[in-house]
Amino acid sequence: MMDEGSSRMNIAIDGPAGAGKSTVARQVAEQLGFVYIDTGAMYRAVTLAAQRAGIKADEPGRLGELTHSLRIELEPGELGQTVKLNGEDVTSLIRSREVTLHVSSYAADESVRTVLAAMQRQLAARKGIVMDGRDIGSHVLPNAELKVFLTASVKERALRRYREIQGSQDISLDQLEKEIAERDRSDEQREISPLICASDAVVLDSTGMTINEVVHAIVNLSRTKLAEAK
Ligand code: DC
Repeated sequence: MMDEGSSRMNIAIDGPAGAGKSTVARQVAEQLGFVYIDTGAMYRAVTLAAQRAGIKADEPGRLGELTHSLRIELEPGELGQTVKLNGEDVTSLIRSREVTLHVSSYAADESVRTVLAAMQRQLAARKGIVMDGRDIGSHVLPNAELKVFLTASVKERALRRYREIQGSQDISLDQLEKEIAERDRSDEQREISPLICASDAVVLDSTGMTINEVVHAIVNLSRTKLAEAK
């Protein structure tokens, strides 16, 4: 379903790891009839491709070349979004621990960021997009009509991740909390497009809120923006 407002609006949702961005962004897109784009999945796909090719995060030349050569496709799938890398379905592979532990380092590379940001701008050109990531409102789509900075305490984010992966990976809550704090530091401190809250973003702290409540809040914000624009 295409909402009549979709042709006039893009929504950027940024925030730290585990804040619930992808779940929330997907549901917001569904309710508004917009297209959802998970930019973290694109960084993960590049990381997987680089690991397979034996390219390290500190090899900018080779990484840039590789990223340029990749075909990354995001398609609506049964479990959210299907991610294809040169035609191969890598939806599960890009969520592996091996990718999760190293994606921050690959995402810090300037050539990777330049190529992916260009792809993301192209995807958003027709509007009607909900895009989540770290630098969408501040860098990729600075003119997005609605920018949300979604956050939650480190403890709460670790707990959510723990519940999500329980049973499938051998990792303690404490360890998850450390890894999330480390990933925050790395995403916030990198030189290029660090995780920052755009000055015109609405900050939403989802600690103690349900997914439905967060989705509802963002859908309401978007309706207000659309009404203002009329
Ligand atoms: O949202 P996620 O956990 O799937 O993101 C994976 C990594 O990619 C994370 O370390 C941050 C990085 N990332 C980024 O630097 N810029 C984006 N727009 C999206 C993700």
